[in-house]
Amino acid sequence: MFYTIVGTQWGDEGKGKIVDWISSKADLIVRYQGGNNAGHTIKVEDKVYKLNLLPSGIINNKKCAIGNGVVLDPWALINEIDNLKKYGINIGNDNLYIADNICLILPVHKLLDELNEKERGINTLGTTKKGIGPAYEDKVGRRAIRICDLKYPSLLKQKIDNLHNYHREKISNYNLSLNDYYKDLLSMADYLNSFSVPLWKIINEMGKNNDTIVFEGAQGSMLDIDFGTYPYVTSSNTISGQVFSGTGFSYRNNHKILGITKAYTTRVGSGPFPTELHDNIGIYLGEKGQEFGTVTKRKRRCGWFDAILLRQSIMLNGITDIVLTKLDVLDELSEIKICVGYEIDGKKYDYLPNEEFLYDKIQPIYKSINGWQTTTAGINKFRDLPEKAINYIRILEELLEIKISIVSTGPDRKETIDVNGTLLNI
Ligand code: GDP
Ligand code: IMO
Ligand code: MG
Repeated sequence: MFYTIVGTQWGDEGKGKIVDWISSKADLIVRYQGGNNAGHTIKVEDKVYKLNLLPSGIINNKKCAIGNGVVLDPWALINEIDNLKKYGINIGNDNLYIADNICLILPVHKLLDELNEKERGINTLGTTKKGIGPAYEDKVGRRAIRICDLKYPSLLKQKIDNLHNYHREKISNYNLSLNDYYKDLLSMADYLNSFSVPLWKIINEMGKNNDTIVFEGAQGSMLDIDFGTYPYVTSSNTISGQVFSGTGFSYRNNHKILGITKAYTTRVGSGPFPTELHDNIGIYLGEKGQEFGTVTKRKRRCGWFDAILLRQSIMLNGITDIVLTKLDVLDELSEIKICVGYEIDGKKYDYLPNEEFLYDKIQPIYKSINGWQTTTAGINKFRDLPEKAINYIRILEELLEIKISIVSTGPDRKETIDVNGTLLNI
């Protein structure tokens, strides 16, 4: 069985928690896009783990892999591995594979990310400044350094020279010592290459063997470079189709796509957000939901559930099941709103249009329901949920025309409801 875990909104939907939960049944967990711009938080009893690059299955002592669709910052990876050691999680070539064709994020990319943001002035995208965009630009521009290049010092030197030469106009006033990080990379080369494998081959062999593979998405569908709220997006394809080009895994029938969906909506960084709340309810959601970015510690913007956006995500990803997270955050509200349509200049839309100049004119049309005003936190049986919370779930299912197969009522593994108890029948 194969599972893809994908965020349906603007990220931070609780993907890490769900990957950790599902990974108990998995033989391999694979990241397929993004980089260390991701921040996945996993709570297991009194311990909280924060992962940026490593797949969340690592907490469960599972075999993990980082696919070629990811851009890899070697310094960030080593730092993350060292941090996990402090929690007793040891990472070696028996539990981590890295695709040998993965492209690297280098210090020059972080500098460029910073400079590009400055250049945009008030139109800043609010990136995580991890060098993601510039690293993908160099990948597409066919200038990138791949992990397999680290084996060849003279080729590596030549490629770093080329890269700096290409970017020289922008970076010449900054003190970035090429030699320093060339030496650094050389000193890390053997260690990094100890993880590097032809991943496409390994995962297809596992697929043929019908092993259980979980593909862990980062960011969310509305941050997709093609289908998100461009240009306020990340620089990778975040939708489920990216699994194939981001790992080399080929299409197979028994593949479920789980759309991880917050019971409300959040966004970090700039860009349109039709259901954003600027009132006390927005503040309440932020505080109750602890909505602060894992990577940049920024406050996340909060708003009502947007069924229009979700229907779009469900189609784009081919979602088979919705996982509804953070239901408990809505516990205290007397009224809950769901966006069921958009109006722009008097015209109704049942999708988010691509024209940038329309973004700010979107007026959400709401359906309002009564809140349950009792606690759902920690409930792990569907029948124990209050009737009005079940009503909220049923209304969402009706609007989205899809099953909600898992409901999450808290950050811990145990605070999870497998609604029909069948999702993990492997
Ligand atoms: P990801 O990027 O999609 O993995 O999500 P993040 O980890 O960035 O953000 C989700 C946050 O919500 C984390 O702090 C989780 O521990 C927490 N979380 C996940 N599911 C639930 C839930 O059902 N209820 C509550 N209250 N918190 C949750
Ligand atoms: P997870 O995996 C939420 C946002 C940034 C910014 C935009 C572009 O934790 O859900 P980038 O650094 O990627 O060039 O920034 O994308 N962003 C995220 N927002 N969750 C994430 O990841 C994000 N990764 C990037 O805030 O608006
Ligand atoms: Mg996150």
